[in-house]
Amino acid sequence: MAHMTVPLLMMLFLCTLSSNSSFQPALVLEMAKILLENYCFPENLVGMQEAIQQAINSGEILQISDRKTLATVLTAGVQGALNDPRLTISYEPNFVPVMPPTLSSLPKEQLIRLVKNSVKSDILENNVGYLRIDRIVGEETAVKLGSQLMESIWDKIAHTSSLIFDLRYSTAGELSGVPFIISYFSDPESLIHIDTVYDRPSNSTKELWTIPSIVGERYGKEKDVIILTSRRTTGTAEAVAYALKKLRRAITVGERSAGGSVKVQKIRIAQSKFYITVPVARSVSPITGQSWEVTGVSPNVHVIAKEAVAKIAEFHKGLNSLIQGAGDLLEDHYAIHEVALKVSKVLVSKWADGLYRSVVDFESLASQLTADLQETSGDHRLHVFHCDVEPESLHELPKIPTAEEVGYIIDALFKIELLPGNIGYLRFDMMADIEVVKAIGPHLIKSVWSKIINTDALIIDMRYNTGGYSTAIPLLCSYFFDAEPLHHLYSVFDRTTTTMTEVMTVPQVRGQRYGSSKELFILTSHMTGSAAEVFTRTMKDLNRATIVGEPTTGGSLSSRTYQIGDTVLYASIPNQAVFSAITGKMWSFSGVEPHIAVQANEALSVAQKILESRLLKRVQGKQ
Ligand SMILES: *[C@@H]1O[C@H](CO)[C@@H](O)[C@H](O)[C@H]1NC(C)=O
Ligand SMILES: *[C@@H]1O[C@H](CO)[C@@H](O)[C@H](O)[C@H]1NC(C)=O
Repeated sequence: MAHMTVPLLMMLFLCTLSSNSSFQPALVLEMAKILLENYCFPENLVGMQEAIQQAINSGEILQISDRKTLATVLTAGVQGALNDPRLTISYEPNFVPVMPPTLSSLPKEQLIRLVKNSVKSDILENNVGYLRIDRIVGEETAVKLGSQLMESIWDKIAHTSSLIFDLRYSTAGELSGVPFIISYFSDPESLIHIDTVYDRPSNSTKELWTIPSIVGERYGKEKDVIILTSRRTTGTAEAVAYALKKLRRAITVGERSAGGSVKVQKIRIAQSKFYITVPVARSVSPITGQSWEVTGVSPNVHVIAKEAVAKIAEFHKGLNSLIQGAGDLLEDHYAIHEVALKVSKVLVSKWADGLYRSVVDFESLASQLTADLQETSGDHRLHVFHCDVEPESLHELPKIPTAEEVGYIIDALFKIELLPGNIGYLRFDMMADIEVVKAIGPHLIKSVWSKIINTDALIIDMRYNTGGYSTAIPLLCSYFFDAEPLHHLYSVFDRTTTTMTEVMTVPQVRGQRYGSSKELFILTSHMTGSAAEVFTRTMKDLNRATIVGEPTTGGSLSSRTYQIGDTVLYASIPNQAVFSAITGKMWSFSGVEPHIAVQANEALSVAQKILESRLLKRVQGKQ
């Protein structure tokens, strides 16, 4: 990185040195020296001085006589070379440096007035505290004014139940005040390393830590804190917002902050009227390894209205019981009870650790709950969603089609074909409920089944079947086994009723069976889901079919939707676990792995080729 910037810098200086400009080579060397001694990223300057010297010696020069233009060109070059927009070079014949008076030098009375003017506090509805600080005082001032600050401002705020901390107008401050502020929002027992600040001129590094003993009462680490930021929020206030946000102690609401710097200095280049502005210190957060400098602090939530903020605080009050409620639902209904217990515990402890602070409404809560449920359980089927009207239950009784509808339904759902070599092809895209299947049965046998029953092999296409009802699976499977003996297909454990059911083939079916001996291929895709997967997995488990295509979705036999508390949040929870008839083990809830893995669009031709060659061998074997 460092070495890449050197040629760039060199080119820059080559282009701007002019014998007629007032920016002589000596000044360029002087500027390089200032950077070397003051710029807070010294590692990016390796080799710079040598490169400049070389450029000067080689004497290649381009003329820029206007000084302001020269300053602009130099600025663009330095910023580009060091990739830092804070570096600027200016030509200022009339610059008078002003030294801001240090606060601690002011008389105490004046100091108090100044601090009071930069702080506003209030108690809003519902015991929500409001604290606005426009200037963050440093350690020295804080110590000096300790008890006065407490009495007039903090004591009121300390007893509120949540706090809006307004840093939207905070544009000045001293970094040494940061540990004080963070300390009020943390515990004295475990000290926190907040920031590491490297100061280049003194070549020293300072770590900022929370303080074990502070004047007055702590706000603690439990109560909600919402920090307001604006694009004017800069410097020390950004350090505070960044630390509290990254510690997950507060959420930030509003606009992205300015992206200031710990410390920037304007330094005169030798005795000229050119100045270079240099960031001389840098901050690195030990939490993220990064900084709020330049990029600013991005808000968790982009709203600015005060009412919205009050709403968030209100929402947070009910959060604990919602999270608890989601855990309870899981314990009562999730198919695997041990997992439910574990997940529910994790949710509560995540809440206690403040990991739900960035949640501000039902929608963001739903997405975080979903992420946490899935991560902790390893089950991607668990899902929390937010819905303003009660979701249509997926478990409503299926509608039995009328006589007129039957033909239409069959046409829409089933596709059949006779392939070369007397291979049948049957595609259906939805698993109908058993009552529907019974209703359309006679018609189905006549217009679909009878046309493929006498083939030598069958390809069942499940690539477009995303599932449906599981009630007809046993009947469907039964067509591919003989009437005797009955086969155990799988067992289902239902958590809600805590019953285990063995699912068997059925002794009697309408029409003719395909039987247990003819070749059967099932095509799958990543969309093949729920009941279609269960059918596929059963046939694979019982070694009755060859599966060709892509791994399936990994859905569930049955998921139910439960309302969380009395809210607009709903949890979709798989309430049944399926156990293999062969191994007795629970089926994994990842998808069905095909025997032959090929892309879905190639599955049919692959299956056809294999079948044709197998059928051919059989014919040859018989001859
Ligand atoms: C130097 O610059 C001045 C104006 O800044 C101009 O009048 C003069 O001609 C220039 N001299 C040379 C040698 O380019
Ligand atoms: C800064 O200090 C470190 C040790 O603390 C030292 O190794 C390094 O050479 C110093 N750098 C400069 C430029 O003085």
